Amino acid sequence: MIEKLRVAVIGAGYWGPNLARNFRSSPEWELAAVCDLDLDRARRLAEQGGGTRAESSLAAVLAADDIDAVAIATPATTHHRITTAALASGKHVLVEKPLADTVEHGADMVGRAAAGGLVLMADHTYCYTPAVLKMRELIEEGALGDILFIDSVRINLGLIQPDVDVFWDLAPHDLAIIDFLLPGGLRPLAVSAVGADPLRSGKACVGYLTLPLQNGAMAHVHVNWLSPTKVRQMIIGGTRRTLVWDDLNPQQRLSVYDRGVDLDIQSLDGVERSAATVSYRLGDTWSPALPETEALRSMVDEFAGAIRGRRSPRTDGRAGLRVLTILDAARRSLAEDGAATAPIADLALAGNS
Ligand SMILES: NC(=O)c1ccc[n+]([C@@H]2O[C@H](COP(=O)([O-])OP(=O)(O)OC[C@H]3O[C@@H](n4cnc5c(N)ncnc54)[C@H](O)[C@@H]3O)[C@@H](O)[C@H]2O)c1
Repeated sequence: MIEKLRVAVIGAGYWGPNLARNFRSSPEWELAAVCDLDLDRARRLAEQGGGTRAESSLAAVLAADDIDAVAIATPATTHHRITTAALASGKHVLVEKPLADTVEHGADMVGRAAAGGLVLMADHTYCYTPAVLKMRELIEEGALGDILFIDSVRINLGLIQPDVDVFWDLAPHDLAIIDFLLPGGLRPLAVSAVGADPLRSGKACVGYLTLPLQNGAMAHVHVNWLSPTKVRQMIIGGTRRTLVWDDLNPQQRLSVYDRGVDLDIQSLDGVERSAATVSYRLGDTWSPALPETEALRSMVDEFAGAIRGRRSPRTDGRAGLRVLTILDAARRSLAEDGAATAPIADLALAGNS
């Protein structure tokens, strides 16, 4: 039997209990402590399982020799401070999305984890859903061919958040998924963001992100807190096939369409003519069978695997940092009425070539 790793969950608000439940159900982990500034909240969560202690002092958790790792589920503005303190105490760190509140903070976290030889993982939860894992597999094996476009919609009647706009609240999910799916990660040539605040809430409640990719491909993300209907859909078009992921349709979350447009560019007398050679493929549609496993359970197991194997987790700090660079470029683009804005080069920021 392998010895369990011991983790403390920091933050027992809305999301912390989901992390705690999955650490408890994993044979890899023992939930040693729950820490929240609100001690009653920490106690209520700690009491749900045997032997977990409740703390209100982060310093006490970090000073404990019997804790290997922390999982941070506090507001984004606190991620950098808590992460750097945890890394300085030799703890491995799992951080909720978004990795941090600024690119500079995210890069500092990545740099410190690398220097300390510690695992820094971003909880990009959707990347551990069976549907997204299957999509990655299909893209990796070339089932889609070259990617032509990605269209992601995440809209519903959402809580207008006090501290962040709709881009920082919802788009981290879409960006993290696209980053996970594209070989080499999401590295757009530019970011254009336009947003609307029709209720005068003081921040964008409706947002559109346009991300030109290499080779003329395009990704688009639509996020919205004001939609009465909930949509969670991503379409990924390729030269061979197109994937449609509808996360709200449990009977058929994923569909693969063998349909598309073929464009044969022929050279006649040295002149390229394309208009006459368009053809449409109208092949089968099929739906891959997907297991019903909880994403967070796979995520906490991946965290353990990375620590034990001394390797980068699938959604490492760098993936979190790439998402941050796009959110940061979106913030700058929004201020310039949607001007195409280059993301800061994340690897340079993290001190690597
Ligand atoms: N992965 C996902 O799908 C998902 C979903 C929801 C939220 N989140 C993320 O989880 C994080 C937390 O969000 P939430 O909705 O649970 O927030 P929340 O406000 O409900 O809970 C945050 C908790 O952290 C505590 N806290 C704040 N500062 C602290 C500190 N310094 N030390 C200890 N405790 C502290 C607060 O008292 C509160 O109980 C955010 O980064 C959010 O984006 C991720």
